[in-house]
Amino acid sequence: MIIGVPKEIVIGENRVSVTPDTAKKLIALGFDVIVEKDAGSCASFTDDKYIAAGAKIIENVTDLFSQADIVLKVQKPVFNHKLNKDEIDLIKKGTMLITFLFPLNFPELAKDCAARGIDVISMDSIPRITIAQKMDALSSQANLAGYKSVLMCANELGKIFPLMMTAAGTITPAKVLIMGAGVAGLQALGTAKRLGAVVEVSDIRPSLKEEVQSLGGRFIEVESDESMQDEGGYAKEVSEEFLEKQKKLLFKHITEADIVITTALVPGKKAPVLVTEKMVKKMKPGSVILDMAVEFGGNCEPSEAGKTIIKHNVKIIGETNIPSLVAVNASEMYSKNLLGLIQHFSEDGKLKIDEDDEILKSALISYKGEVVQEKVLEIIKNQK
Ligand code: NAI
Repeated sequence: MIIGVPKEIVIGENRVSVTPDTAKKLIALGFDVIVEKDAGSCASFTDDKYIAAGAKIIENVTDLFSQADIVLKVQKPVFNHKLNKDEIDLIKKGTMLITFLFPLNFPELAKDCAARGIDVISMDSIPRITIAQKMDALSSQANLAGYKSVLMCANELGKIFPLMMTAAGTITPAKVLIMGAGVAGLQALGTAKRLGAVVEVSDIRPSLKEEVQSLGGRFIEVESDESMQDEGGYAKEVSEEFLEKQKKLLFKHITEADIVITTALVPGKKAPVLVTEKMVKKMKPGSVILDMAVEFGGNCEPSEAGKTIIKHNVKIIGETNIPSLVAVNASEMYSKNLLGLIQHFSEDGKLKIDEDDEILKSALISYKGEVVQEKVLEIIKNQK
């Protein structure tokens, strides 16, 4: 089968789905790999590296889509302004599209793919189970984003992170508050600690306390009788009552912090608001907030997706694509996630799809002209 790697066309997207190293491994698995000209250039992977890996460079993206049996992408299909056409119109019937589709947020797109006979595996729907760890692209990208988020905040803050005792006086360490101790939050904690900050972390799952403490963070616990975790170990959506209690407890910590990084999320739900405008008003002038959940509603009331704004003397960063800012590593890790998936579901250069497979039950969104993923089907049913 032929694997096609188009250049990403979403503005600000520097990642590429397949690096030359991964292309070589896919070819060793029996696939042919075709890559659009300059597809990897924003992530420093030049065409000659792909050619050396055994891939073929295609000048014209229309040709690439017409030849590919499998299309590997980072972003969901969007409108191609250069061609004045929807990207999805270029994908031929029977193609397997593997990308971040976010079908729970964009069920219409899932329906559209199915109607056109485009099969889809969505990388954000890979379950966080042991066997699928090597394919877990949400984690690989969140890990990098957690690291980079601290550097972005550090750059915006007019202070340094560590304690510094000098003849000119003592500088006290910066205070960083992180909300949500998942993949991104824990990486942000480790990074801020390494830079010398005092770090506090809040999460609704008490089971994370030990992990936070082992990385040198102070855990802020909200006492409650509610169960915060489902059987799979993921956070459950909490009651309004709990959120109010949490906000009250966090208020003091927010007003004392120099940097607040919010990463709170319950899978498939709108992000909980943890930092209200009233709280921002009470923060120290010059402090910085980075709302990582901004794309899914935001944890910080005034944050705006894709923008950095100043409100009440506080800088609020709403960057929606932090992984793209570290495109080299983000592409390397994402392409390894894709390789892990293809290795698992292929034989002799051919994809083998088993709809009953535990991973595909969650990640296979559209197949043979139908939307097949249960949660997406439920959303579509409720829309009627
Ligand atoms: P995750 O699911 O591993 O962690 C989320 C954590 O939030 C969980 O530990 C959960 O218990 C916690 N949480 C839920 N409700 C909470 C509440 N009310 N208070 C405190 N904690 C709460 O998710 P991951 O992978 O770490 O991603 C975090 C967020 O960052 C997501 O919203 C994701 O979409 C976003 N993200 C944004 C990027 C960007 O470029 N802006 C890049 C990567 C991820």
